[in-house]
Amino acid sequence: MYLTKEEEAMLDGEAGEVKERLFRLLVRLGDIYGAEKMISVGSVQVAGVSYKSIGEPGTTFLEDMASKDAKAQVLTFLNPAGMDLEDYKELGFPKDFAKNQLRIINSFKQMGIVITATCTPYLAGNLPRFREHIAWSESSAVSFSNSVIGARTNREGGPSALAASICGRTPEYGLHLWKNRQPTIKVHVDAELSFTSDYGALGYLVGKKVKNKIPFFTGMKNANTDHLKSLGAAMAASGAVALYHVENLTPESDLIDTDVAETITIEQKDIDETYETLSQGTNPDIVILGCPHASLREIATLAEKVDGKQLKKPVWICTSRMMKEAADRMGFSQTIKEAGGHVVADTCMVVSPIEQMGYKQTGVNSGKAANYMPGFCKQKVVFANIDQLIMEVS
Ligand code: F3S
Repeated sequence: MYLTKEEEAMLDGEAGEVKERLFRLLVRLGDIYGAEKMISVGSVQVAGVSYKSIGEPGTTFLEDMASKDAKAQVLTFLNPAGMDLEDYKELGFPKDFAKNQLRIINSFKQMGIVITATCTPYLAGNLPRFREHIAWSESSAVSFSNSVIGARTNREGGPSALAASICGRTPEYGLHLWKNRQPTIKVHVDAELSFTSDYGALGYLVGKKVKNKIPFFTGMKNANTDHLKSLGAAMAASGAVALYHVENLTPESDLIDTDVAETITIEQKDIDETYETLSQGTNPDIVILGCPHASLREIATLAEKVDGKQLKKPVWICTSRMMKEAADRMGFSQTIKEAGGHVVADTCMVVSPIEQMGYKQTGVNSGKAANYMPGFCKQKVVFANIDQLIMEVS
């Protein structure tokens, strides 16, 4: 692979032990995928933040990096942590877990990584531009940035994203190249989609069917950004879709070659069946919304729906700290709290240890959360739209 003088120097250890070690990892990755050169990245998003996901080995690795003075070279945001970093006591997060989670957060902070703890960095101060090369790792954020923004990223692992942050580079392969961003399957949607959960169900189903192909959707007319983030998150979870295009909606849809041989059609009955597949019961112990992290519009919608109610079970909506602050200012958080709910920042239903907090059955409106919660959180899932979930706990 061609390396600039500065990159050669990093590889030779002239920029210190940490950069040498991490840059070596990037070169190896580039060699495996046939990259011809390195490219500078505009921003990075690092996943692998929750103590539940990385445990003691990951925590020690981060502490080691931080102690050796590793420093982020570009704007770097963090994926959700395992708990709300401010309200963790009030919400009942286990003490030991909290202690270890804070070790991880301190290490990232020492490295100059912004403690945003969100999977929607694009709503919280890290918005890439069209065609900007970035190195992000959380699969729904990768899908959104590639598809809805038209930025360019592969799905980075935790270590390769950290390496991109510390070295400011990523190997140029995969979705960084225009030739690899062309659709490989057409998906025609012949169904009424109104709720965010409808898009989650569609995404779950399409991800299962297309695996790692690049879908080009037709027939989807009025999807807003909340719908698209839900769709992309579910497709990345049940399949490995890191980029999709939607006719007349996403920015590359007018530029790509849409002459694709394979087409599938999704009908209303397929969406209805997916709700049944994903739902394992009724009567949840808790309802958790906000996967991917909720936008202000989604928090406002919940506040409107629970205003004046007394909920019988807890309802959380997970979001970034930035959205929570806006929700606090607007009184949405207070309205939700008065009904018995909580706007939870910095974490989510999947990466927090909810199984240790006594919950066994969780209501969600996210296709991605429904996909992961049975395995990763030992939860029975109630998958439904927001209105049905609120009804279940009212
Ligand atoms: Fe985000 Fe957690 Fe869902 S990281 S996409 S809210 S599983």
